[in-house]
This record gives sequence, C-alpha cells and structure tokens, in this order.
Amino acid sequence: MKKSQLSSPVFFLLITLSFSLSWDSLSSILDVTPRASSEDVLGCLLSHSHRITSTSQLIFTPANTSFLPVWQASFQNTRFLTTPKPSVIVTPVEETLVQTTLLCAKKHGYELKMRSGGHDCEGLSYSAYVPFVMIDFTNMRSIDVNGNILDRKSMGEDLFWAIRGGGVSSFGIILAWKLSLVPSVAPYIDRNLLIRTTIFSEYIGNSTKKTVKVIFEGIYQGTTDTLLPLLDEEFPELGVTREICQEMRSIQSSLVSWGLPLSTPIEILSNRSAIAKVNAKVKSDYVREPIPISGLRKIWRKLMENDESAQLIINPFGGKIAEFPETAIPYPHRAGVLFQLYKAVNFNDQTSDTTPISMRRRAWLQTLDELLKPYVSSNPREACSNYNDLDLGVGNENYEEASVWGERYWKRDNFRKLIRIKAKVDPDNFFRHPQSVPVFSNSFNGM
Ligand SMILES: Cc1cc2nc3c(=O)[nH]c(=O)nc-3n(C[C@H](O)[C@H](O)[C@H](O)COP(=O)(O)OP(=O)(O)OC[C@H]3O[C@@H](n4cnc5c(N)ncnc54)[C@H](O)[C@@H]3O)c2cc1C
Ligand SMILES: *[C@@H]1O[C@H](CO)[C@@H](O)[C@H](O)[C@H]1NC(C)=O
Ligand SMILES: *[C@@H]1O[C@H](CO)[C@@H](O)[C@H](O)[C@H]1NC(C)=O
Ligand SMILES: *[C@@H]1O[C@H](CO)[C@@H](O)[C@H](O)[C@H]1NC(C)=O
Repeated sequence: MKKSQLSSPVFFLLITLSFSLSWDSLSSILDVTPRASSEDVLGCLLSHSHRITSTSQLIFTPANTSFLPVWQASFQNTRFLTTPKPSVIVTPVEETLVQTTLLCAKKHGYELKMRSGGHDCEGLSYSAYVPFVMIDFTNMRSIDVNGNILDRKSMGEDLFWAIRGGGVSSFGIILAWKLSLVPSVAPYIDRNLLIRTTIFSEYIGNSTKKTVKVIFEGIYQGTTDTLLPLLDEEFPELGVTREICQEMRSIQSSLVSWGLPLSTPIEILSNRSAIAKVNAKVKSDYVREPIPISGLRKIWRKLMENDESAQLIINPFGGKIAEFPETAIPYPHRAGVLFQLYKAVNFNDQTSDTTPISMRRRAWLQTLDELLKPYVSSNPREACSNYNDLDLGVGNENYEEASVWGERYWKRDNFRKLIRIKAKVDPDNFFRHPQSVPVFSNSFNGM
C-alpha cells in the first residue's frame, strides 16, 4: 500500500516546455489560436506524426467506439465517471508522439492532462472543466532516449528536486523513472514490521446495534518464528497466534492487501482491469502526538454516526522516511510524524457523489475533519499531496491564497521553492490543474 516517498538512486526523464524544439513550425506554436472543435488538434496530431506508423491507432476522439473504454480503462475512482472528458486521447508507444501532442495541444489552446496509473484522488489526470487533450501512458512500458528529453543532469538539480514530490504535473511530462524502495515502518518498533490499522463502524450482525471495528494488518520481513516473540513483546493485546500468520513472497502481500487469495498468479498485479476501482472522497492528516483516549472516544462516537461509508486508515511512519530533512525533496512530512491518517467516505451504493446521501457523507467527512483538529499536526495542518483534496482550497492569485493549500502539502520552504522553480521552467503556466504549483502575475521574490 505504501509507496516510497523518497527514492535513491533515482533518475527521471522529462520533457518540459523549455526543451529546444525541432519543429519547423516552431514559431506558430507561440500564437495560441482559439479552439473550435477537436478537428484542429486532431489534424495537427495526424499531420505532424507522419513518421510514426499507424498513429491513427493511437489517437481516439469521441467518434471512435473505443474512446470511452480507453478513457475508463485506467481510471481508478468511479466518482468521476460523469465528469467532462478529453477532446482527444493519445496513447503513445514512444516519446515522439508525446512531444507532438504537447505542441499540438499548446498550439490550439487545449490544456494537457497526463495519466499514468489513474489514481488521482480528484480525477485531475483524466477530467477537467476546460477543453483538454489527455496523454494516457498505458502503452509506455519502456523508452529509448532521443534529443529534447531531459535527464537529471540536463534538467538541473532544482527541477529534479521539484518533480520528486512537488506534483510532477506542474512541471512537465515524466517519461520514465527508476526508483528504489525504502522501508517505512511503525516508529519505535522493529524495522521489519509494518502494521496498518483500518477503522470503521458497522452494524452487528442483522441488528440495529453498531460497533467500531478495527482491523490490524501486518507485513513482516522475516519468518513466523521471529515475528511471534516480537509481537508478544510489543503488542501482546493483539494475541497473534501462528494460525493467523501466513508466509509468502513480498510481492504476494500486495495480492493479500487487495483481498485476493494467495493462490492468485502475481501477473494479475499488472492487469489494470483486474484490480477493483474505488468510488470515494479522500482526505489525509498527519499525527505527531499520540491521540489521547478521550480523543479516540470522540472519534469512535463520530464513526458511529456514519452510515458505514467511512474508512480511516492509520499508516505508521518512521523508518527511512524520518531520516531525511524536510527539504531533501518537496515531500516534508518526516521526523516526528507518528502516522498518516487516511480518511475517506465511499459512494459505492450511490449513482453519483452529489445525491443527498452522498452530500451527507461529504458533510460528515468535513465535520470529522473539524473534530480531528486538536489531535493532528498544526501550523500547517499537514496533508499528503498524493491524496489531493480540492476542499483544501484552489486559490492561486497570490502567495497568501495559494499557501492555504500549498503549505499543507509541502510546508512553507518547499512550497516557496516549488513556486520559484515553476516560474523558471513553465512561466506561462501551461502545465496546470486546480492545485498545480502557481505562477503569480505579480512578482514573487520567493522569500
Ligand atoms: C485506490 C487508491 C489507493 C491509493 N493508495 C495510496 C497509498 O497507499 N499511498 C499513497 O501515497 N497514495 C495512494 N494513493 C494516491 C496515489 O498514490 C496518487 O493519487 C498518485 O498521484 C497516483 O498516481 P497515478 O499515476 O496512478 O495517477 P494519475 O491519476 O495517472 O496521475 C496523478 C497526477 O500525476 C499526473 N501525471 C500522471 N502521469 C504523468 C506523467 N507521465 N508526467 C507528468 N504528470 C503525470 C497527472 O496528470 C495527475 O496530476 C491511492 C489512490 C487510490 C485511488
Ligand atoms: C478512430 O476513427 C477514425 C475515423 O474513422 C479512424 O481513422 C481511426 O483509425 C480510429 N482510431 C482508432 C484508434 O480506432
Ligand atoms: C441475517 O438475515 C438474513 C435474512 O433475513 C438471514 O438469512 C441471516 O442468517 C441473518 N444473519 C444473522 C447473522 O443473523
Ligand atoms: C485482466 O482482468 C480482466 C478482468 O478480470 C480479465 O477479463 C482479463 O482477461 C485479464 N487480462 C489478462 C491479460 O489477464
């Protein structure tokens, strides 16, 4: 479940608008002509990708019967099923078509959305309320380097810093990255042990009585023989016995955490349509002080008011994540964080996220946020940019407005540095979405 927050050694390849253009029609890119219908961008794509064989098989408009299936294939939150769709979807198999798409979108006044895994919590990689072209990287499993593409060295350390946690979609397009995973474990406990806690309320049997259920799921890098004495020492309350432990390969733990049987072939993990999608509104917090029992009681009572649509997940922190300074990369939630709190309500039984019941669930989530305030981090109240949440604010006219949400994701120093880097690499703010790193019209000295 946990993705690595810091990766080292790492290298990325990235296209930004600042690359030198090899196009003959370069000068015309700078006049952004108003858009009429998708004919303009489609024509541009087809005429400039003549070197690529069978390009037409990689470009989809709403007129193609496969447009919707392609759009739906790798989106992971069905809450956004009815949101506005792209004018054109491009599914490149190599980088030239990525560059062509970028240039055609810019030339014809479309926004560009990039989609990789499609997990964006606000659907920002595949929907927008403005005309847009979507590049879907589903076919890009490997790339060869050719000019116009930046690697760590040619992009410079500032931009390389920014794209590791600063929201890559504010800075350009990532073609490839290589990372190494680091362990993230509960603070103060054996580094080989990770325990995730899921909390929700549910009716007891068929009765009208409710209870709060807490599920502890653990991953331990080692054998049952060494795990049992460790748990006896650290968590005797859990009463873990040999019977409920299962030894498996690390990769198989991903199957189990998705609720799949251990006998499932691991190849299923690379099959996007086999993994269940969510339909949820997500928020996050970070907790730096243990929550007192009185606080937990309040949270339990709040959960009891919920109609079984809510889920809280405690992801323990510590380990390698805590060893790096807050400014090492944009991701700042490090030493001192005990756990990250994931908070969500689902709309699984609803036709949309705006039905009266859905609206009640969203309001419940907001009031949970208020109740949690005394128990979570403050100044700023930290939030995880991976769980992007437009309720935190979308103001971007000036630093004061943008800091309302930006400092929660990145903290002050990092957010200011991201803004300075953004001003250098994308001063026209081409790479944007409602919570992208802003470009201000007034000068921002960054200090
Ligand atoms: C079911 C589910 C479980 C999750 N679990 C966790 C978890 O355990 N831990 C955690 O930290 N997070 C988790 N997340 C959040 C997830 O990590 C983030 O939403 C992450 O940004 C998803 O990346 P993606 O490539 O799948 O998403 P996408 O929706 O494809 O993209 C996310 C953002 O990146 C941009 N982008 C995508 N590809 C590129 C590219 N090639 N170049 C430039 N920009 C690009 C998009 O435009 C968008 O802004 C979960 C989300 C879901 C839906
Ligand atoms: C989409 O439709 C056009 C026009 O019929 C066709 O040329 C193109 O090949 C189709 N694209 C795909 C990916 O099927
Ligand atoms: C709940 O109700 C259903 C249908 O009335 C019944 O089949 C089931 O056995 C009941 N379950 C429990 C745990 O009482
Ligand atoms: C992927 O999963 C879907 C849904 O379970 C299934 O229909 C499809 O055959 C699978 N594809 C592959 C390549 O295994």
